[in-house]
Amino acid sequence: MAAALGDPVRHALEAVLDAVRDRTDGAVADYIPELAKVEPEQLGAALASTHGVVHEAGDCDAEFTIQSVSKPFVFALAVDALGLDEVRRHVDLEPSGEPFNAISLDEASGRPRNPMINAGAIVMTSLMPGDTADEKFAVVLAGIERFAGRDLPVNEEVYSSEASTGDRNRALAYLTRSAGTLGAAVEVATLAYFRQCSISVNARDLAIMAATFATGGVNPLTRERVISEDAARWTTAVMTSCGMYDESGDWMVRVGLPAKSGVGGGIAAVQPGQFGIGTFSPRLDARGNSVRGVATLELLSERHGLHMLQHHGAPLSPIASLSRVEAGDADGGSDGDTVVALRGEILFSEAEEILTRLAPLVGDRGCLVLDFTAVTRVAAGARTIFSALPDTMGRLADGRSRVAVHDPDQVLGAAER
Ligand code: DON
Repeated sequence: MAAALGDPVRHALEAVLDAVRDRTDGAVADYIPELAKVEPEQLGAALASTHGVVHEAGDCDAEFTIQSVSKPFVFALAVDALGLDEVRRHVDLEPSGEPFNAISLDEASGRPRNPMINAGAIVMTSLMPGDTADEKFAVVLAGIERFAGRDLPVNEEVYSSEASTGDRNRALAYLTRSAGTLGAAVEVATLAYFRQCSISVNARDLAIMAATFATGGVNPLTRERVISEDAARWTTAVMTSCGMYDESGDWMVRVGLPAKSGVGGGIAAVQPGQFGIGTFSPRLDARGNSVRGVATLELLSERHGLHMLQHHGAPLSPIASLSRVEAGDADGGSDGDTVVALRGEILFSEAEEILTRLAPLVGDRGCLVLDFTAVTRVAAGARTIFSALPDTMGRLADGRSRVAVHDPDQVLGAAER
């Protein structure tokens, strides 16, 4: 009998946690007094695939406050609620290269540099629908719960602690208010923001939330579309350039995963199209990023080749087979036609390969039948290239198109031509 396979991904996560467990450098955040009480030894990591499978290692059920990890999710909600142009009237999308709580506003426009630093995040929360802090927070909470796929509690102690000490954030809010970029009164915006930061999550939640960006906006467990594909892409882009504050550039080189950290000790990291990772360990480095969370993601990326810009050597050709239909064959074509069976996901470069390889085959005799039966998806940008096919390839003398498309599942999005 074959040995049980177990969960090799969990083992990989556990091995990395074991390698970083002994690190005791850094310190738990204490500028929000309640955070200083957190048990510093906790350590957990979870990976959620875009297929909806979650692998967990260590303290994945331990709850902590989401803090700044909430920022990309609220940015995504704002983009879908208001549109990117309107959001950009209130915030820039440039890395600040400065700490998370810096007074980082564009000199001329007064806009915060990006939505991942506190100033920009408070502005994003202020733009949420509703007039009061409670109403705005309700929209934020409902959105973040859809990302996580479950109801999430608020840590009231941490909320009160930050609400009674968060004067620097109030100062940032006043500055944005005076520059005309804050969408609400200072107290409305900051109280909603403090509650947002006090939402209680675990590493598993962060993995699922990040995986929702990885799928292009669909929660891989609940299958609910949470945000648009555009919002997922734009947000992941901002996480890439700004998510780790003044460590963002170095992080991108070493780890290569769009990510967002929080002073509660959480980090959410995205590998677009593949998975999300959530880590939790409370001790922070000087930039407010979890020491062992950073080390975990760095080692995972290095050991398992997770860098988003990893070179992909030899992808499977999108052309599975090419066959000539002879009399009597029932391959979807007529006698003398050539049937080209395509497969997998077709992005721009697959479309380029298909069309470049097939162009010389379009002869006087017979028709080229492109069979999309085994194609899982045609990306929008590739679709437009295929839609030009019959025109660019011309027609046979008898008036038939030189190219026909067999697309039973309508992956091209239009009726069969
Ligand atoms: O606004 C603050 O200071 C906290 N509620 C959140 C800051 C934070 O998590 C920064 N990230 N590392």
